[in-house]
Amino acid sequence: TYVIAEPCIGEKDASCTEVCPVDCIHPTQDEPGYAEARMLYIDPEECIDCDACVEACPVDAIFPEDLLPEQWSDFARLNADYYAN
Ligand code: SF4
Ligand code: F3S
Repeated sequence: TYVIAEPCIGEKDASCTEVCPVDCIHPTQDEPGYAEARMLYIDPEECIDCDACVEACPVDAIFPEDLLPEQWSDFARLNADYYAN
C-alpha cells in the first residue's frame, strides 16, 4: 500500500484524489469534515499500488509503505487508523 506522510499536514493539496483510480484517498474536498482533517489518508485495503498519486503530490508526501522515510514510519499506522472503524 501507499502512505501519505507529514508533508501533507497543512498542505492538503488534494491533487492525489483526482488521479487515484480507485478513489481510496480521503477525505476529499467534497466530503464533510474535510476542513477539520489535518491531512488526507490512503485506505490500505483499497490502494492498488498504481503509483499515480506520487507524481501528483506537489510536496512529495506520498510513498510506497516499504520506502517510507524512517522519521515518518508512524504514518503507515496513521493512514490505516483513519479507516479502522
Ligand atoms: Fe490511489 Fe494508486 Fe495512490 Fe494507491 S498508489 S492511493 S491506488 S493513486
Ligand atoms: Fe496531501 Fe499531496 Fe494529496 S499534499 S492531499 S498528499 S496531493
